[in-house]
Amino acid sequence: MKTTAIILAAGKGKRMGLDIPKQYICIGNKPLLYYTIKAFEESPVTNIVLVVSQEDKEHAAHDFLTQYSFAKITSIIAGGAERYDSVYYGLKQASDADYVLIHDGARPFVTVDIISRAMEAAKLKGACAVGMPVKDTIKIVNQDNCVESTPERSKVWTVQTPQAFEYNIIWKAYDEMYQRNNKKGITDDAMVVESILGKQVTMVEGSYENLKITTPEDLLIAEMLLKKA
Ligand code: CTP
Ligand code: MG
Repeated sequence: MKTTAIILAAGKGKRMGLDIPKQYICIGNKPLLYYTIKAFEESPVTNIVLVVSQEDKEHAAHDFLTQYSFAKITSIIAGGAERYDSVYYGLKQASDADYVLIHDGARPFVTVDIISRAMEAAKLKGACAVGMPVKDTIKIVNQDNCVESTPERSKVWTVQTPQAFEYNIIWKAYDEMYQRNNKKGITDDAMVVESILGKQVTMVEGSYENLKITTPEDLLIAEMLLKKA
């Protein structure tokens, strides 16, 4: 059984507002992406497809293949303009896999335990996403910020990555989405499976520390989490 991790690192990090993409920011002397890849390197996945921007391909190969010698990286490919484009190219590259895990390079606090739980769930259920129950109450609002409804808190989860799938399921969902050219509002991979195939996706427990580094205050949290580890 071949399980491929597709690690997405082709974003520009606009919300972080720095002159380098956030996945290359160093904490503890290493780029954030190092910690992300290390977790997958130490996990039971078979191999890693790393998706970076065209201009970062050479420097990523130098860092992660030569300097850090991650043995599970089998290809470094160029991503696309949107996250879903990067996933699509990653899926094409991983076409010989039985299962795939899709993970945000900007989530460096993923652990081997979380990866293993996602792999197990994908094998049992075919499609799963890691996440956590929300701590805050959530409000659904209209265009004027007026509350339309308050979902029962125990039923609301935030979604994280990895999201793990039987290859045939996620490929069918993405391929059909591209054929229909209906990509509006797609923010994660589970959504593609839900909306295109109408297939159930199971939520798997991640952790509250598995945050996506997105805005400057997330870097402060990241430094604290790294010190604690
Ligand atoms: N990503 C990608 N290809 C893109 C856009 C995003 O591979 N075209 C990756 C990012 O590198 C990141 C993950 O998808 O690891 C989640 O995306 P996000 O947090 O939105 O990162 P950015 O798009 O880089 O940030 P921003 O939206 O603030 O520009
Ligand atoms: Mg983005």
